[in-house]
Amino acid sequence: MTDLNGLTFYIETFGCQMNENDSELIAGLLAAAGARKAERFEDGQVVVVNTCAVRGKSEEKLFSYLGRLRSWKKKHGLVIGLAGCVAQLYREKILAKNPDVDFIVGPDNYHRLPEILSHGLGLKPVMTSSARDWNEDERQPFMRESLVSAYVTIMEGCDNFCAYCIVPFTRGREKFRPLRAILDELAGLARDGYKEVRFLGQNVNSYKDPETGALFQDLLKASDDIKEFKWIRFITSHPKNFTGEIAKTMARSKKVCRQLHLPLQSGSTMVLERMKRGYTREDYLETIRLLRSVMPGISLSTDIIVGFPGETEREFEETMSALEAIRFANIFSFRYSPRPGTAAAKLNDDVPFDVKRRRLLEVQKRQKAIQTEIHEGFIGRTIKVLCLGKSKKDERVYSGRNEGYQVVNFMSERNVIGRFVHVQVKDCGPYSLRGEFCGED
Ligand code: SAH
Ligand code: SF4
Ligand code: F3S
Repeated sequence: MTDLNGLTFYIETFGCQMNENDSELIAGLLAAAGARKAERFEDGQVVVVNTCAVRGKSEEKLFSYLGRLRSWKKKHGLVIGLAGCVAQLYREKILAKNPDVDFIVGPDNYHRLPEILSHGLGLKPVMTSSARDWNEDERQPFMRESLVSAYVTIMEGCDNFCAYCIVPFTRGREKFRPLRAILDELAGLARDGYKEVRFLGQNVNSYKDPETGALFQDLLKASDDIKEFKWIRFITSHPKNFTGEIAKTMARSKKVCRQLHLPLQSGSTMVLERMKRGYTREDYLETIRLLRSVMPGISLSTDIIVGFPGETEREFEETMSALEAIRFANIFSFRYSPRPGTAAAKLNDDVPFDVKRRRLLEVQKRQKAIQTEIHEGFIGRTIKVLCLGKSKKDERVYSGRNEGYQVVNFMSERNVIGRFVHVQVKDCGPYSLRGEFCGED
C-alpha cells in the first residue's frame, strides 16, 4: 500500500459527468493512500487538473487555468498533474510546451496515481496506456461529492466516431462494466442511503454485459428492483441505439425517471449524414413520438451543434424547426469547433465565425422562450422534488430537481437535503422554477 500521509491535494474538474465521476475516483484513490483533499488549489501541495478536449474552448480554459497555477507554483511551489481527455490526447507533447506540468495521467491509469506521487516526479511520468477491458479492481474507492445522488459508470469509451467528436480518441474503444459489478455498487449505494443513481457512459444504450450479454434494458429492470432508490436516470443516450425496447422498459419501470437526454446535434438529415450520426431527422422525430406515446409528459433535453462544415442557412433552419417541433425542456448548444484527428477536421470549416455566432444566439434565444413557456406551465402545480443542496448565497434557500430534471428552488427552515419534498411552484425563469415548500413526501 502506497503511503501518501500528510500530502494534500486539490482537484479541478473540467468537462462532462464522466470527468466529474472520475474526479471522485481520483479523490478516493488518493484519500485511501492517506492524502487529504483540499477545497482550494492554494491549500494543495498537488493539483490534479481533470481536463476536457471536446471543443477548442475547453482546451483554452485549461491553458488559462494553468497560467494561474504557474504563478502560484513560482511563489509557493506546487506539483501539477494533468488527467482526463487533454492528457490522454497530447501525452508528452504537453510537457514540452508546459514545463510546469509534473505528470500526465490518462483515464485508464488513475489507479496508478498513488504510485506516481510516491515515487518522485523527477522524470515527469506519463501514464496514458489504454486498457481494452474493464478492470473493476482499478475503479474504487470513490469519494463522492453528493450523499444524495450518485453517478455509476456502466461503460467507458465510444466506438461511434461522429465526424466532429474527439471522444473516441481520448476515451478509446467501448468497454462495458460487468452487470454483477454494477449491481454490487448499487447495493453499496443503497446501504449508504443514496436516493438517486445516474448511470454514466458515452453511449449507455449500447451497453452489453461482457459476462452474460445482458443489455441496457436488463440493467434498468434489475436496478428497478432495488427498493432503496427512488429515482434512476442515465446519460448519454445515442438516438441510433435508443430502441423501442428501452423506451418500453422506461415506461414500465417504477423508478426510471421520465426524463431523457438525447443529443440531436442537427435537425437536418444532410448535416446528420455529414456528421456520421447514423440517423435522420425523421428517425429522431419518430423516436420522440414513441417516447411521448408511452410516457406522456416525458421531459427531453438535447445537444445542438451549429455551424458544422457546409451547414447552409436552410439546414440551420431545420435545426430551428426541430426545436420548435420537439420543444425540449433544456438544450446544450455549441458552435462547431474542429478537433484534431477527427474526420470533420479534414473538411473546410467554412461557416464564418460571425454566422456561427448568430446561429448559436438564435438557437439560444428561441430555446430560452420555449423553456420559459414550459416553466410557466408549472406555476400553481405542486411537484415532487429531490432536494440536492443549499444555495450558496442564502442559507435558507434549498435547491433540487424534479423528475423532469428541472432545477427547483424553495425556502425551508429545516434542512431537507436528501429528502423528497413537495413544492408548490409560484414563479419561474428560463432556467429554474421557484416555489413554496409544502412538506416532505
Ligand atoms: N456522448 C458524449 C458526448 C460528449 S460531448 C456524452 O457523454 O455526452 C457533448 C456535446 O458536445 C456533444 O453532444 C456535442 O453536441 C458537443 N460537441 C462535441 N464535439 C464538438 C465539436 N467538435 N464542436 C462543437 N461541439 C461539439
Ligand atoms: Fe470532455 Fe468528452 Fe472528455 Fe467528457 S469525454 S471530458 S466531454 S472530451
Ligand atoms: Fe462523441 Fe458521437 Fe461518441 S458525440 S462520444 S463520437 S456518440
